[in-house]
Amino acid sequence: MRTVTLPAPDDVDAWRGAARGLIADDIPPDRVVWQLGDASTDLFAQAAAAPRADPTGAPLRVSRAFLALAGDAALHADPERFALLYAMLWRLRDAPKLAEDHADPLVRRLEGLAKAVRRDIHKMRAFLRFRAVEERGEEEGGTRYVAWFEPEHHIVRANAAFFVNRFASMRWSILTPGVSLHWDGRALSEGPGASRAEAPDGDPVEEVWKTYYASIFNPARVKVGAMLKEMPRKYWKNMPETALVPQLLASAQARESGMIATSRSDMGGNVTAAWEALREEAAGCTRCPLYKPATQTVFGEGPLDAGMMFVGEQPGDQEDLAGHPFVGPAGQVFDRALAAAGITRAETYVTNAVKHFKFEPRGRRRIHARPDAGEIDACRWWIEQEQMLLRPAVTVALGATAARSLFGRTMTISRERGRAQRLPDGGAAWITVHPSYLLRLPDEAAREAEYARFVEDLKAAHASLSSPRLKPGATAGGN
Ligand code: URA
Repeated sequence: MRTVTLPAPDDVDAWRGAARGLIADDIPPDRVVWQLGDASTDLFAQAAAAPRADPTGAPLRVSRAFLALAGDAALHADPERFALLYAMLWRLRDAPKLAEDHADPLVRRLEGLAKAVRRDIHKMRAFLRFRAVEERGEEEGGTRYVAWFEPEHHIVRANAAFFVNRFASMRWSILTPGVSLHWDGRALSEGPGASRAEAPDGDPVEEVWKTYYASIFNPARVKVGAMLKEMPRKYWKNMPETALVPQLLASAQARESGMIATSRSDMGGNVTAAWEALREEAAGCTRCPLYKPATQTVFGEGPLDAGMMFVGEQPGDQEDLAGHPFVGPAGQVFDRALAAAGITRAETYVTNAVKHFKFEPRGRRRIHARPDAGEIDACRWWIEQEQMLLRPAVTVALGATAARSLFGRTMTISRERGRAQRLPDGGAAWITVHPSYLLRLPDEAAREAEYARFVEDLKAAHASLSSPRLKPGATAGGN
């Protein structure tokens, strides 16, 4: 029997090193016990085997998909996670594509763990709230922002870079039961776990949050069920703004009009910083394999207070090289149609449902390939965040991929175009064709007719910015 003692519950590197050593030594999963603790004080533990060359000279190569799965699943609180991951690694020797077999019970179980971890990571980013604490002492001095969070899994260290990026200029501490993180504006340090009692309670920052939240609160988008699902009651007690929800809901109807304008003027700085952090994070996105052959992530562009957001399918060859959306042939058609509809592109925010170029190499050319449902779903994370930050009055889905991403289901463009729709989060949206559809039409007359319809769709969406008749439910025909 081999006992492997890992130094920390989130030490994925230690697991990886030990697992590689065990594979090299040909130790089957049922001969390994995984535990946590201090290996130096464990008399019975054999030190985690250092990675060493496979005796056969052929080191086990695993796919990026497995590494990503392992990186997430290893952070789950399930005590069996390391054993399960090793069992999968063992099977990968004979079945290198196992990670793609989503019907396999072991793969399914690990995917479930990984999903729960990603959700917990998201919750920490969305629901953690800082409170201001005045520090005294010569070296300290000034304000430190302190937050308390109770994660379900071992995600705190994995989330540290996100908070460092987003709150780089603040001095902050995040206290959790397992570990605490401290950022002094230059360096990150760790301390032991803390208790709820050590975290500060209400202070002026709560007022800031309350003002901020009240200003961004959009009653049209509130779905209490969805809110509870996303934001379990467990988190509510740590969030000052939740105290406002009943009151805000009560006056929801009265507050709806004018709210978007108010919120934008109140929160400009926050939105810019959050959007920049988001774009930076997206630049390193590995949520699906499309990032591998692509040159770069092509993120959305445009003013963050734009009234209209346009969502395309994915960057094409030229966008992938330039790093900007809609700059190639489809972009030229789009620009022309916008101008014909009386819309200035500079006033709009333009993004894509999928942020990496998917293509098939053919000789020296890269031929556009349609993103599949899994890739669209993986990338939905970014578009949702863009939507949340910008909260455009109107979103326009250009083509079926964008519509699927925004609505979470397949939409038939011919049936849905020409009238305002309601997005799952309550926002207003319009659906039309993708500009490259126009480029593909072989017949000149059809191309002209379809182009004219496209321009009409854009005009209708634009008109709905100011016309109450064109809110979701009304039709573009004006009735
Ligand atoms: N097609 C798209 O959907 N998006 C782009 O950015 C370019 C072409």
